[in-house]
Amino acid sequence: MSVAKKSSASVIFALACLLCYAMSTEAMPLAVKDKQDNQFQRNWCIVKPSMSDDQLQRNIDFCCTEVPASCKDIEDGGSCYNPTNKVSNASVVMNIYYQMMGKHLHNCNFNNSGILVYDDPSVGSCVYPQL
Ligand SMILES: *[C@@H]1O[C@H](CO)[C@@H](O)[C@H](O)[C@H]1NC(C)=O
Ligand SMILES: *[C@@H]1O[C@H](CO)[C@@H](O)[C@H](O)[C@H]1NC(C)=O
Repeated sequence: MSVAKKSSASVIFALACLLCYAMSTEAMPLAVKDKQDNQFQRNWCIVKPSMSDDQLQRNIDFCCTEVPASCKDIEDGGSCYNPTNKVSNASVVMNIYYQMMGKHLHNCNFNNSGILVYDDPSVGSCVYPQL
């Protein structure tokens, strides 16, 4: 009898905690939620499929300007050098930019041409860092 009472009390307590947690998550400012959901997960930023060459180039130019070191990997001799695949070029530098800026969702926007992925996009010696 008292066991049953105790366990139903703990179920209510657990439900109250859940509700409380849900409400506190809901009330969190977007930036904090973003950190919780995104920043501490393993994820990478790459370019969305079917983006125009112009957009790819703008992203490459943007990243190489903002974070010059990100361009090292795609230059001749770099671990991700690829003379035939501009999509790869763009994804490599976009991911480095995103990781270095602190992995906020808006760091992978790139005029809506960036997308987060949760499987490691590294190919062979071309390693996509994950901070
Ligand atoms: C994003 O779009 C704005 C306005 O069209 C443009 O000025 C900017 O260069 C673009 N940035 C990238 C990275 O495409
Ligand atoms: C990728 O970027 C590197 C460095 O700017 C360049 O040498 C290479 O030609 C680019 N590849 C493509 C397909 O644009």
